[in-house]
Amino acid sequence: MTVFDEQTTTSVEFDHHSEEYAVNGAAINAELRAKCPVAHTDAHGGFWVLSRYDDVVAAAKNDEAFASGHTVNGVSPLGVIIPPAPVPMLPIEMDPPEYTPYRKLLNPLFSPAVSKTWAPRVTKWVDVCIDQVIEKGSFDLVDDLANPVPSLFTCEFLGLPVEDWYDYADIQHKIIYTPPDEREPLLVRYMETLGRVHSIIEETRKNPGEGLISDLVRAEIDGEPVATEMVLAMVNLVMAGGFDTTTAVTVNALIYLADNPVARQQLIDEPGMIPQACEEFLRYFTPQPALARTLTKPVKVRDVELNTGDRVLLSWASANRDETVFECPEEVVLDRFPNRHTTFGIGVHRCLGSHIARSELIAMVTRVLARMPDYRIDHDAATRYTSIGVINGWINAPATFTPGKRLGDEPLPGAR
Ligand code: HEM
Repeated sequence: MTVFDEQTTTSVEFDHHSEEYAVNGAAINAELRAKCPVAHTDAHGGFWVLSRYDDVVAAAKNDEAFASGHTVNGVSPLGVIIPPAPVPMLPIEMDPPEYTPYRKLLNPLFSPAVSKTWAPRVTKWVDVCIDQVIEKGSFDLVDDLANPVPSLFTCEFLGLPVEDWYDYADIQHKIIYTPPDEREPLLVRYMETLGRVHSIIEETRKNPGEGLISDLVRAEIDGEPVATEMVLAMVNLVMAGGFDTTTAVTVNALIYLADNPVARQQLIDEPGMIPQACEEFLRYFTPQPALARTLTKPVKVRDVELNTGDRVLLSWASANRDETVFECPEEVVLDRFPNRHTTFGIGVHRCLGSHIARSELIAMVTRVLARMPDYRIDHDAATRYTSIGVINGWINAPATFTPGKRLGDEPLPGAR
């Protein structure tokens, strides 16, 4: 593998959506870090890639020059995805000062203390999901656990009917792994789902109750109620940002533990280690490998001049394996400390849902190790995403285990 064009110092062949990147991403990132930390590719209209920890962190902190907006200097669509998503996700694709009141509004609703009060509901949904398969001795890590749990919980957290969890979970998962040329019917379904959420927001406005949607329709920014379109864009981001990311890291973590019996036994023997191990899974598997920015002014990174309007990809995945920051970065070290990974981003846009994501990941790993400790992955049937440009995940991961007993008789709400 050579990603370098020998004629210049910064030009590389790099596409984070390519199948090669899905297979060899860690090696490609290591080569970039070593030989071309500020690299330019012509893929997707051309963009820069920052791969060293210090550069990624400095760029993410410098939100004045490295903008996240869907529109920057009058140009749209831009935002944090390369190639850009047609519809802006908010507030992730806004910049200060317009961005700041939205973030201020959302911060207390996602605080560590509030997220902690939700933890028993997360564990409840994990156990309900495991109950559906525990007597059978077989399940799919994606379809039966890691995809349903974030959706079931998030419906409750948002105040959406929990019976609809499957529609939300299924579309968020499929739209990520389906190749762009086959995505059209899914986009239609996606828009229908958003249409349904739009109606629910309008209804909630008349009669607010519990959940984030009610909190948002009650809220005001600059003395005005938050427009339904803005509430919808925020709810959309909570689902798009919170579902498949959490699914991906959970499945990667559980596959790793199934394939590494010593590590699995260590966590079974010492469940108190699970939160720290999950932090390491977040670093090592970096479910959202990279996000983009657009330059609002010329910037020098190392000795390379980047220009106004240039697109820049911040590789969280590469930063997380930077050998100058992490000892043995290519190894999973269950009790790694400190672990200053970039998985949830850095700077003003740092992930609002990180406490919820951690709570879901820890609960799923804990309950699987407690209730089906000998699970084995059917590697011949397990399928990875062929492109990890947006999420580093698995389409399916079937597994078998010694059957156990249900804890309750509650069925999964709604229909699949
Ligand atoms: C392991 C799971 C997750 C990962 C890896 C992840 C990753 C990220 C990253 C990297 C950012 C920063 C984006 C940037 O700098 O441009 C972000 C922002 C965000 N995330 Fe997460 N996320 C996860 C789970 C969640 C969950 C569960 C929720 C909601 C319940 C959520 C909601 C958000 C929101 C609303 C933002 C935007 C914050 C802002 O723009 O101020 N995320 N996430």
